[in-house]
Amino acid sequence: MKKCLKTVLLVLCLALLTACSKNTNSSGNSGRTTSETTPDPANKPEAEPTEQISGTPAPTEPAEPTETPVPTANPIDDMYIKDLYKDEFMVGMALPNSVFGKSFLTETVKNNFSSMTFENEMKPDYTMNQNENIEGFPATETSPIISMTGIKRGMDFAKENGIKVRMHTLIWHSQTPDWFFTTDYKSDSPLASRDVMIKRMEGYIRNVMKYLEENYPGMVYCYDVVNEAIDPGQGEKNGLRKESKWYEIIGPDFISYAFEFARKYAPEGVKLYYNDYNCAQKCNLIIKTLTPILEAGNIDGIGMQCHLSTSDKISSKVYRTAKSFSDAGFQVQITELDIGITGGEYAELVQAMKYRVLFETMQKAKRDGEINIDCITIWGLYDSISWRKTEFPLIYRQKGTELEKKLAWYGIMQDPSVKGVEW
Ligand code: GLA
Repeated sequence: MKKCLKTVLLVLCLALLTACSKNTNSSGNSGRTTSETTPDPANKPEAEPTEQISGTPAPTEPAEPTETPVPTANPIDDMYIKDLYKDEFMVGMALPNSVFGKSFLTETVKNNFSSMTFENEMKPDYTMNQNENIEGFPATETSPIISMTGIKRGMDFAKENGIKVRMHTLIWHSQTPDWFFTTDYKSDSPLASRDVMIKRMEGYIRNVMKYLEENYPGMVYCYDVVNEAIDPGQGEKNGLRKESKWYEIIGPDFISYAFEFARKYAPEGVKLYYNDYNCAQKCNLIIKTLTPILEAGNIDGIGMQCHLSTSDKISSKVYRTAKSFSDAGFQVQITELDIGITGGEYAELVQAMKYRVLFETMQKAKRDGEINIDCITIWGLYDSISWRKTEFPLIYRQKGTELEKKLAWYGIMQDPSVKGVEW
């Protein structure tokens, strides 16, 4: 793998022609209109720093198409993402409940993705009912009642289509109700003690794992046990996030408790992950915090969220960090990938190139034994339902009642029209 990491954006004349030619595709998706994908050379962003790599042709300025391209079938339209990467890692999709039941959406998901994450329905603010836990008190004090009815449609869909599920997320400062941290689950009661919260954490993890295993045996292959516990910007010496009730009540060892309990109750072979954002900046701190947990045998991997933008370098933001985690003994997943567009219409090509570079780089790194990565999950199906919808960060867009593949999809598929290297 080359050391010097520079971006070379190669947008060839061919890109324009082939992009236009994808108006027709044979996978049931409606075609893309020429105006959506033909970049206006006047809008071309400043090229990223270029460095000639031997054997790589010099960047070519996009040329004006000289004649209207004739739409031709692209064989890649008959292929699917998960198949292209099946020898290296799974490819996942995060989904909101609204997707299930709409056949054109689920068709796309089942063909292209082998792993699935619920965007919300497995988070603590969805898994418990306050009244049930109040009424059940004191039996519920350290054994919260779990009612995950919201996952039924999604789990049924995953089961029917042989899609594995990554559970997101057990212990998180956000999307966990405040009442969960009080003595008796009443909103105006005082905070529970450290001792109660350690036992309640154990009860929560045990009951969620039990619920999933009893109702959906064998479907969940990994858990995000702790999400976003590290934030050196909050001023704590240990670099942990201060604004977290888990941290406030239990203290810094809430992370190791969570993994200890998760290992205790997780079915054999299920992988346990720590998940976070800005991993490149926090890389050393994450490794330092998690190494004792790894040594205790209670964690398997680190999930890198990867909410990126087109101005990010895949090499430094993703590759190097993933390699450091892998070198430190952790399995790696990219868990929440989206790449927001910064720039004009032309930027869709840059976005496609970034998606391509990321997937290709990880594929090669896995093949070469450099990075132990086992899944890349894209955080959302199509732009208008993304949490970053103003940045159009995903690989599909909605067109009427259909889903349309964006150039980013072709980038992931390593289509020759999306040429990009970043070294
Ligand atoms: C974080 C969480 C995700 C999701 C996104 C925003 O990355 O881990 O579950 O909430 O924020 O959508």
